[in-house]
Amino acid sequence: MTTLTYSREELLAEHQYTEKFTHKGHTLHGGLTSDGIYKPPRSLNRIQAIENWTEELRKGGHQLKIMDEVKEVIAGDFFPTEEQAKFLMRNGCKDSMTRILTIIGVVEGFGNDGIKLLPATDMQQFFVVSIEGTALAHLHGGLLTAHGHDEAGTDHEQGHDAMWYAVRDRALGNPTITDDMFEDLPIAPPPGYQGKAKAADSVKSMGTIGKQIFPQINMMLELTLMALARILHIEYGAYATFHWAQQVLADPEVSEAPEWAPKVVGYIQEDEDIHVSYLRCALAEARARTLICEDGSHLSGIEVIDKLCEVVKKQMGGKRRELMSIHRYTQILKELKIHPDGERILKEFKSLGRVPELEDSEPEAARA
Ligand SMILES: [Fe+2]
Ligand SMILES: [Fe+2]
Repeated sequence: MTTLTYSREELLAEHQYTEKFTHKGHTLHGGLTSDGIYKPPRSLNRIQAIENWTEELRKGGHQLKIMDEVKEVIAGDFFPTEEQAKFLMRNGCKDSMTRILTIIGVVEGFGNDGIKLLPATDMQQFFVVSIEGTALAHLHGGLLTAHGHDEAGTDHEQGHDAMWYAVRDRALGNPTITDDMFEDLPIAPPPGYQGKAKAADSVKSMGTIGKQIFPQINMMLELTLMALARILHIEYGAYATFHWAQQVLADPEVSEAPEWAPKVVGYIQEDEDIHVSYLRCALAEARARTLICEDGSHLSGIEVIDKLCEVVKKQMGGKRRELMSIHRYTQILKELKIHPDGERILKEFKSLGRVPELEDSEPEAARA
């Protein structure tokens, strides 16, 4: 019989690892089992559980795809392109690359704080049909905790944020990390974040609560579903980053860890696959059900989930990604401005691919 109910301990249970990876004396999460294959952290039962819940949806003939197209739309869309990034590094411009990899790590860490904002809620009260044996029923029973640990680590093991820093340090030969790399970011930390990253003044907090889209349903339910959809969108977007980083950091001409760095990025991606699959499953389960409104009336899950996803795609799509590209371009321009051969490098850099349009006038070096 298929297992559909798991305890928190079961969802957090670890494989017996025979090889763990370390960086600067710290242990990274996950590792290799005796078969020499990488297994993500807390995945002894978690992957199977999500597969079982997803299979139930499939058997019921329900739609499994939730914003899947986002992954395709974003694929290959990373500024600077692989070619541009390698060109910069071949010309000794390591600072911009250091900043890009640092911010990727910082944003990974934000994931945990964002997840912690979701209050433990009894999800059953919002649905007509039982949610027993679903991902929805296990969100606060281990799934969200495991996800948060994956992103930001635990007391004894490092998670994705530190793993990206490790990739950066090994591939770029322990570059100097300065406080300003964590400042003026185009994305705001979630409320409750305690690290040193700071958003630019112009950036609105991600935690800002807008008007409820479905005022007839419980506010916490909408907040939770909306958060799941937002995080799923971020996870889809990360695939473009993984692909880009693997391609760039596998090149021995520009990377000091051409094997280790892309391998670890691949491990991070395997961990993220779990996030995508449970978020998509939980949202698809909500979509397949009828919701109970505050006044006791009913509302179609299809209507709610499809609308929330549409809003998320609008909020998280184009402009937000472009702001991140502009931030990266600004850093590149700053580095080139003080580079003795900056003008020539910038000219060639621009000829290798698109550059974002800056709202203000470009710094001097940009006019080369
Ligand atoms: Fe992550
Ligand atoms: Fe993730």
